[in-house]
Order: sequence, then structure tokens, then C-alpha cells
Amino acid sequence: MKQQIEKLTASCIRQIKAASTRKVLTDIKVGVLGKSGELTALLRNLKDLPCEQRPEAGKLVNEAREKLEAAFAEKFEVLHKEEVAAKLASERIDITIDRPYHDVGCLHPLNKVKNEIVDFFVSLGFIVTDSPEIETDYYNFEALNTPADHPARDVQDTFYINDHILLRSQTSTGQIRTMEKVKPPIKMISPGRVYRADDLDATHSPMFHQIEGLVVDKHITMCDLKGILDMFAKHFFDEKCKTRFRPSYFPFTEPSVEVDVSCNHCHGSGCRVCKGTGWIEILGAGMVNRNVLTNCGINPDEYTGFAFGMGLERITNIIYKTDMRAIFENDIRFLKQFK
Ligand code: PHE
Repeated sequence: MKQQIEKLTASCIRQIKAASTRKVLTDIKVGVLGKSGELTALLRNLKDLPCEQRPEAGKLVNEAREKLEAAFAEKFEVLHKEEVAAKLASERIDITIDRPYHDVGCLHPLNKVKNEIVDFFVSLGFIVTDSPEIETDYYNFEALNTPADHPARDVQDTFYINDHILLRSQTSTGQIRTMEKVKPPIKMISPGRVYRADDLDATHSPMFHQIEGLVVDKHITMCDLKGILDMFAKHFFDEKCKTRFRPSYFPFTEPSVEVDVSCNHCHGSGCRVCKGTGWIEILGAGMVNRNVLTNCGINPDEYTGFAFGMGLERITNIIYKTDMRAIFENDIRFLKQFK
């Protein structure tokens, strides 16, 4: 009996040592210590031994059971640790791996320039307003002192939705909408899209952007207009940039001017960009027509004002030496240059 137990214990210890998983180990344990296990069978056989040998044999079986249980427990612990370590190793995420970066986007040049222009005027205390792109002819023409027979009202120039509704052809609509709501003093700029019945070419597009400016207060004169536009040109182009006013005509300003800046490419000596003149036109402007103030309920004997409207694409093209098509094509190779 003693020999049997020792043999069984030794063979079991060998199997425990060799077991590679907890599952295998459990099977071995069941085979030896389970209900119908080998050691359990020996215990059961004790009753067949002569009475005097039973206590000794019982003791041996119990010692063997304790020894094996301890060996199983120890090996379980070792295998458990190994399995956890293997699982962690197999699930490890290498956060140091080299991956290509996703491209970071950038603002469209038009938005870049618009933001800079808006920032400039906001720094001078202007408010920024917005107004509808689908307008009535009242806001686009009538209130802006544009008579019914004015050529700008022609369907050749303006997109009509019906007899009275149209896509605004200028952001000057924003002047009226602001003056109807806000009492002077007014200092506002209003950027937005405008629409004209033009085909796309290097200098035209059926949709483009304007930024309108309006100042209304007591004692506003053309000197204020000239001063602000001069500051704007120096800020935007270069310190030495000069501005000049050329007489012009807009129904909603009187007197009206077109404003040129000295060419930022040749500095006045004449080049292709300025068509040899040394000057580049950047915007239309003037003193707000008395009729326009009256249309908005502002007394023209008490208040005066100036207004200006600039084409955002025009300014962007001057700064970046681009043209209308490049700006609207949105070729990613072109846009990437503005990062
Ligand atoms: N609205 C005019 C245009 O589109 C520009 C302008 C605005 C002129 C304000 C004078 C005053 O050409």
C-alpha cells in the first residue's frame, strides 16, 4: 500500500510539473483526487486492509492528498500568472507605431482675407452685420436710390426670382437693413455673397463676395472716409501704399468715388498687374446720399455718413496674385499653399 501511494504521488507530481495549461492541470487533479480518482480509490480500499494497518495507511493517504493538493495549488498559481502575462502580451497596443499623419485643413484664402479685413474694422469699433442673400428689389435698388430705369435693374445684370424678389447684387442692401434698425452713430461692416449675371472668367464670377462699410454720425465728412481707407490700405498692402479717389457715380452715394491703391507689385512704376498705370482699383465709396438717409428715417440735415463696398475676390487676387477661376476651382494643390 505504501509503495502504491508513493508511486502514485511521484507520477502525479511529474504530471503536475509537465502540465502546460490550467485545463490540463484540472484534468489531472480530477483523475487523482476526484470522486473516482486514483487516490480516492485507495482511500476507499482501506476497508479491505487488516484492522491494525488501517490507521497507518489512512495517514499515508491523507499526507499524500495534502502534498498533492499543495502541488496543484502552486502549479495553478504559476500557470495563472503565465496565462495572464501571455494574454497581456498578445493584446498589447503599440502606441509608438509610426503612422502617416492626416492632412490638417486650412482656411480658404477668401476666408483668410475676409477675417483679416473684418478684424481690422472691428479694431476700429465697427460692428459686423449680416443680411439676406435673397432680397426684395426695395432693399437692393429702391431704398438705395436706384431708379426703376437704372441699367443695374436689367435682367441681363441681376438674377430675379420673380418681379420683386432677387439675389442681391450688392451688399449695400446691408446699409438699409442696418439703418432701419440702428440709430446713429453707426459704424458697421457687412460681408457676404452677391450675385450677378456674369460668366466665370479671370475677373468675373456669377457669385462673389463683397464687404460693405457704413459710418453715419454727426459731422462725418469725406476726410473721414479718406482717412479710414488710407489706414486700411497701409495695413493691408504696405506702409508706403498710397490711395487716390477718382470721381465716380453710384445712385446711393453723392459724391461718389472709386478708390485706387498704388500697385503693390511695381510700387507705382507700372507693370502687368496695374496695366501700366501704377494704380489698382479696390473699391467704390462715397458720402451716403441724402435720399438714402431719408428712406431709412434718418434726418440728412442732422446726420451725414460715408459708405464703401469692396470685392473680396479682388483684394484676395491682389494680395495673392491669383485669379477668379483659381479661387473658385478649389484645386487642393492651390488651396494647400495657404496653410
Ligand atoms: N455697391 C457698390 C458696388 O457693388 C459699391 C459701393 C458701396 C459704392 C458703397 C459706394 C458705396 O459696386
